[in-house]
Order: sequence, then structure tokens, then C-alpha cells
Amino acid sequence: MKRMLSGIKPTGSVTLGNYLGAIKPFVEYQDEYEMFVFVANLHSMTIYVEPKELRENTKNLIALYLAAGLDPERVTLFLQSDVLEHAQLGWYLGCMVSMGELSRMTQYKDKLAKGESIGAGIFNYPSLMAADILMYDPDYVPVGIDQKQHCELARDIAIRFNSRYSDTFKLPEPLVPKIGAKIMDLQNPTKKMSKSGDNPKGCIYILDDINVSKKKIMSAVTDTDGKIVYDPENKPGISNLLEIYTTLTNIPISELEDKYKDSGYGDFKKDLANILGESLEKIQTQYKEIIKGDYITKVLDQGAQKASFLAKKKLAKVERKLGITIRK
Ligand code: TYM
Repeated sequence: MKRMLSGIKPTGSVTLGNYLGAIKPFVEYQDEYEMFVFVANLHSMTIYVEPKELRENTKNLIALYLAAGLDPERVTLFLQSDVLEHAQLGWYLGCMVSMGELSRMTQYKDKLAKGESIGAGIFNYPSLMAADILMYDPDYVPVGIDQKQHCELARDIAIRFNSRYSDTFKLPEPLVPKIGAKIMDLQNPTKKMSKSGDNPKGCIYILDDINVSKKKIMSAVTDTDGKIVYDPENKPGISNLLEIYTTLTNIPISELEDKYKDSGYGDFKKDLANILGESLEKIQTQYKEIIKGDYITKVLDQGAQKASFLAKKKLAKVERKLGITIRK
């Protein structure tokens, strides 16, 4: 069975982009692959998050992984900070990547361009992400388009390490879905839907009030030509809604175009809002059950045990090769 690994950072509430670009595909992959899914809480340190909020977001993310259908008996579900080896391997790999390579990361460049004050963590985090990935020798890393470049850097670091110290890491491949890899902001469909968008109406949160989310679909920006056709370049708004529709239902876009060829945007949006509402309701109902009691901590303990076993073995191997350890 081929192996897959991926993670999400708990910096804010989980968005529809995170769900459609990451969580939903993970659930679909679990039948076919050996999956490792984690909460990248060390990564959330790259920006300031109120500690209380971070704790809440972390619990919510684990609960949402489960509510969306990840099965902890089949998937190794863990909290990054429970496996100390990530930070240690991240340090070694950070010493093998150049400032130039890190400066070329689009996410870093975008943050820099905004002129905000940024910490060294933002600059250096792709080396920690490389450690997250290479630690477990996955064949594939399923991510949205914005994380593809970081996965490619992880692969480059693995190639460098293997050639310098002999074969140690499997070379992973990023797996970006053809559709749904970049859900756009509903108010500004040329920008990625994200927690940090300018207009709150542009981003849907999985745990938000369902009627609020449906209203956000109804008020999504479209265009004036009135045709329900997939054309991301010229019709980004309606194309984004078609992507949301197809990823939620698995109905191909061509079928949707056909189904709505005589309809207006209003009817199409109403149907999509209802479909989204049903999906959110299912997830939220499960979530409310899961978040009660100590089920989450049990799942995390089990996941940390399995992940730590592999991580310890891998780190020991790396340290032997590096010459860090003097023990046989
Ligand atoms: P993060 O937390 O920003 O995003 C988690 C996942 O959600 C995807 N995503 C989207 N997909 C489609 N449309 C959107 N609008 C959208 N917004 C986010 C992201 O592409 C990602 O797949 N550094 C990573 C977390 C991480 C990781 C890893 C991932 C840490 N270590 C190792 C994979 C492997 C991050 O910040 O993702």
C-alpha cells in the first residue's frame, strides 16, 4: 500500500478551502492509501495566536478531521508537537537549504510584499515542513496548490541529503487535485479563499452558522453575462462556484454546465447553497458528538504512539548518517 502524509495548521477556523482542498480528499484517499494526517501546530507559531484560541482551534481541527470521516483505526492522526523529532529533523534540514531557496517561496514573498513585520519562523518554515514530510517516507503529499512549492522543496532537500549521505529519504510527490486545489474568495474570486482575506463574506468557515454560510454563497460575486460556464480566466466567480459544487457532489463540471444551461445565477446559487448547507450540517452534527468527552485525546495518544515509533527510527538513522551520534 502506498503511503500519504499531509497536515493543516490550526491558526484559525477551518475554511471551506481547507475542507475541499485537503480534508475531503484525505477522507477519500484513506481507502486506498496508508495515511498520516496531522495538526501542524508548530507551524502555527509563525504568527501570534492567542493561546486560548490556539487550543480551541487545535481541538476543533482534530474533531473536524474525524467529523469529516477520517477513521483513526486506519489513519495515523496526530499532533505535530507530540512527536518531538519533527523539530529536531527540521533543524538539520534547515541547515541544508539555502537562504536563496527559502527567499523564492511564493508564500514568503507575498507576506514580504505586504510590508508586514515577519518573524524568522515564516522564512524558515519550509524546512520544518520538509521534516514533517520526509520523516515518514510518504509516496504522496496531498495538498492545495499553495503548498505545492513547499513539497517540491522538500523533495529537493531529500535529493540533496541522499546524495551527500547516501539513500535515506524517499522522494515524495505533491498530489494536487485537478479541481478544488484553489477555492477562491467569494467576494474577490481572483484571490485564494483564506482566513486572512479582507472581506469576511468572502470566506466560509466549516463550523460557522449554516445560514450565514448559505448567504455567503448567495452573495458571491459573479459577472453580468448570466451563463453558467466554467472559464476561470474570464468568469472567475461562477467558475469558483462550479468548483465548489463539483467537489462537494463529485458531479463533473460538464454535467453541471448542462444541467444549468437554461438557468440563471440565482437558481444555481440557491441549489449550491442548499447542497453546502446539507454537507455542513452532516459535519457539524458529527463534530458536536466528537468534541464531547475525551475521545479526541485518545485518538491523539494512539496516533502519537505510532508516529513517534517511526519518527524515532528515522531520526536515529539520520543522526547516524550525519555523524551527530557516537553510539552504534
Ligand atoms: P494550511 O494550513 O495553510 O492549509 C492546509 C491545506 O489546505 C489547503 N488549502 C486550500 N485548498 C484549496 N483552496 C483553498 N482556498 C485552500 N486554502 C488552504 C492547503 O493547500 C493545504 O493543503 N504548511 C502547511 C501545513 C503543513 C503541511 C506539512 C502540509 C505543515 N507540514 C506537511 C503537508 C505536508 C500549511 O500551512 O497549510
